[in-house]
Amino acid sequence: MIPPEIARHAQELLDFIDASPSPWHAVATMEQRLREKGFAHLEESQAWSLRPEGRYYIVRGGSSLIAFILGSKPLTEGGFRIVGAHTDSPGLRLKPKAPHRTETMMRLAVEVYGGPILATFSDRDLSLAGRICVRNDSSLDSFLIRFEQPLLRLANLAIHMNRSVNEDGLKFNKQNELPLLLSDLCDGESPEQKFLGLVAEEAKCNASDILSWDLNVYDTQKGSFWGPELEFIADSQLDNLSSCYAALVALLETEAPESTCVGAFFDHEEIGSESNRGAMGSFISDVLERLAYATDVNTPGYKQALSRSFMISADAAHAYHPNFPNAYEPLHRIAVNQGPAIKVNASQRYATDSMTEAKFIELCRQADVPYQKYSHRGDLACGSTIGPMTAARLGIPTVDVGCPLWAMHSIRESAGVLDQAHLLKVLKTFFVAPAGQTV
Ligand code: CO
Repeated sequence: MIPPEIARHAQELLDFIDASPSPWHAVATMEQRLREKGFAHLEESQAWSLRPEGRYYIVRGGSSLIAFILGSKPLTEGGFRIVGAHTDSPGLRLKPKAPHRTETMMRLAVEVYGGPILATFSDRDLSLAGRICVRNDSSLDSFLIRFEQPLLRLANLAIHMNRSVNEDGLKFNKQNELPLLLSDLCDGESPEQKFLGLVAEEAKCNASDILSWDLNVYDTQKGSFWGPELEFIADSQLDNLSSCYAALVALLETEAPESTCVGAFFDHEEIGSESNRGAMGSFISDVLERLAYATDVNTPGYKQALSRSFMISADAAHAYHPNFPNAYEPLHRIAVNQGPAIKVNASQRYATDSMTEAKFIELCRQADVPYQKYSHRGDLACGSTIGPMTAARLGIPTVDVGCPLWAMHSIRESAGVLDQAHLLKVLKTFFVAPAGQTV
């Protein structure tokens, strides 16, 4: 039996994901929650003056966000407690000159973003969400846009023309076979006119003012619970909005911490994090450094604070799937609903070492939360995440952890209801632990 408050938290996670069909929407959804809880927006282009124990957030590029609560202890004593996660998920993005006609059908050209399981995008009720940039008299405006109704489709080829699909797997050529079906009606318009008209109508602007877009293909199906006890959830983007949500709620519910608590949410993890707002970029160090200076801590003091800091990098982990036993390292199988996994890789694809691992275990013990240990098969390439990059950038000891997930990078991933609550609990414990204790 799943306790009602745990089921409620999982439902809130699904609502958060369904409100966030693109990284830009994810950041907007987080901003709204932060503002409701008294976090003030800081602009990077302005000078900062920070109140003691104040709560603030900064957005860069519309799709990365860092929020923090100043600790009651001086920064040089309390250091930073950071939880990091990523706002992006692999999938399909619209090309700049996407609309075109092929025989009878109008289609949209797309580019693959990151490493999605492309076959899972077929035969889904797809639509578009993201941001557009429009000309506005003297300035440029950018705003979010979301088509609610299913607008697009990657229709499969019938098995009668693809007889070996169940033996060979479902494959799409990324250039020729991924354009999405949009319409067979044109009313005498060009494909570009037709599509810009749709966007303009949705955005309530003039089609001729639209200059550019970042548009993500998303699945309109909402998140759901499944299993006899409704002990599992399924949704798009669980990797990694589930970790973002846990980190966000942990921060929102933290009151008067001794250490300065930070939630860092980065775009572009799925494509390597090398961007002006990715985990490999300057965003995190720029923010932490300015935070230090704004609280009258000088450069040596800032470095001292970093050396007293700790980071938990939270990203989904691979849950054991009994249909595919040979895909897993037999000694390190992790189960759904058995607690977050500590991810270890000797080549530092994960930032964990024995010290940071031990500290996370100790936090789990304090929070009364179970944990697991994950190591990838030796004969398979291991994935990575933001942990090693921020650790390299900041020099902060870091542990990589994550909730077990089935079908990572499918458009419909699956995870455990209990694990979401476990992760939240341990992150809250991390934020409020007294300075100098545990980390
Ligand atoms: Co991820």
